[in-house]
Amino acid sequence: MWGGRFSVGPAEVMEKINASIDFDKRMSAQDIAGSKAHCAMLVKQSIISPEDGKAILDGLDTISREIQDGEFIFSAALEDIHMNIENRLRELIGDAAGRLHTARSRNDQVATDFKLWVRSAIDELDKQTGLLIEALITQAEDNYDTIMPGYTHLQAAQPVTFGHHMLAYVEMFGRDRGRLKDCRKRLNECPLGAAALAGTSFPIDRHVTAEALGFDRPTANSLDSVSDRDHALEFMSAGAILATHLSRFAEELVIWCSQGFGFVTLSDAFTTGSSIMPQKKNPDAAELIRGKVARVIGSLNTLFIVMKGLPLTYGKDMQEDKEPVFDAADTLILSVTAMTGMVTDMVANRDRLLAATADGFLTATDLADWLVKELNLPFRDAHHVTGTIVKLAEDKKCDISQLNLSEMQTVEPRITDDIFRVLTVEQSAQSRTSFGGTAPENVKKSAKAARERFLS
Ligand code: ARG
Repeated sequence: MWGGRFSVGPAEVMEKINASIDFDKRMSAQDIAGSKAHCAMLVKQSIISPEDGKAILDGLDTISREIQDGEFIFSAALEDIHMNIENRLRELIGDAAGRLHTARSRNDQVATDFKLWVRSAIDELDKQTGLLIEALITQAEDNYDTIMPGYTHLQAAQPVTFGHHMLAYVEMFGRDRGRLKDCRKRLNECPLGAAALAGTSFPIDRHVTAEALGFDRPTANSLDSVSDRDHALEFMSAGAILATHLSRFAEELVIWCSQGFGFVTLSDAFTTGSSIMPQKKNPDAAELIRGKVARVIGSLNTLFIVMKGLPLTYGKDMQEDKEPVFDAADTLILSVTAMTGMVTDMVANRDRLLAATADGFLTATDLADWLVKELNLPFRDAHHVTGTIVKLAEDKKCDISQLNLSEMQTVEPRITDDIFRVLTVEQSAQSRTSFGGTAPENVKKSAKAARERFLS
């Protein structure tokens, strides 16, 4: 491959450690697109002849078809996707193939291919995350007034609505899409034409190739162009945050569909049975999403560790960038898609959700707020009075709404009958009308606004 400089070929194990074709063949479409753009520019700049240019472009089209039809023979001896394609081009069109690599190196070539690949992964993940958001908004609309306990410390805290809970995830996944969009914007500069590291003496036009490949502009510094893998780190960072959101939600689903909770029912399509226990319906999809997230976070770490000690510019270590990124992208897209399916089919069990609000004195804050509003108590004093009333109810093994007025008055004599008005969970949720609060009317409006904000 390297012509005159070498007199013996690589050791067998060298070939094995060196070859990346097994995984970088996933970038064949990007490699061909990059080569076509480069070739057209070389013709335009009169660096190669129109005849050679035409032969190269036709040859690349043939290769593209061969790969699509599964006819292309990938060879580990040819190391990577770039050399495999160039070698096949030579077989197809002869010596003209050798002109394609004018003013180019595999260093700027691979950087370009990889950016193109990551860019399309970002686009696909963004699209799938949009579908997940849509499924969550639909659940929120269907359950804008479905009362459930809201938790802190996984201890029942205050009544909220199921719809409000769904919209919390809409915000998270919405921010994830924002991060993907930012990452895409920063990624979208074209490294092609940086050549090995220093640029080239040929009169190339990098703006032409950048535009042909859908980039906003060429990268500004040739050294940075071939050594930068920020876009992959940034994609996986955004992906790891998204994955973390998926995992928290998956965890909630696992808890919610357990017998102690029974908050939701997952469909048969997203659960599995047990080989021994006939009654079982396990939330495997949710568990797998929670588990697979580890791979995304792990992949991000892998690339950080590959990159952190590398001097400029290119080092072969950087060939280790692809597998983690491919795996992270595959895992993210699969997990988001599975989550969308689960959310679409999921049924919120209104009765169980409501029943769960009976325990835990969920309207204690409402009682304290009443003391502040009606008796003008400072909130800290109201908190203390309410705590004493909760203790009273706890001793009687009943809810605070089931205490008599006279019992409450032993703690605070000025309490009136009006207190009972605020002690139902429905009233509690309805009263939370502050911006972003859980009142069903708010949730209804927020779901509508979310469609505008995230899906238009
Ligand atoms: N397969 C290589 C990679 O993925 C392509 C670049 C090789 N460049 C080089 N100078 N050896 O990084």
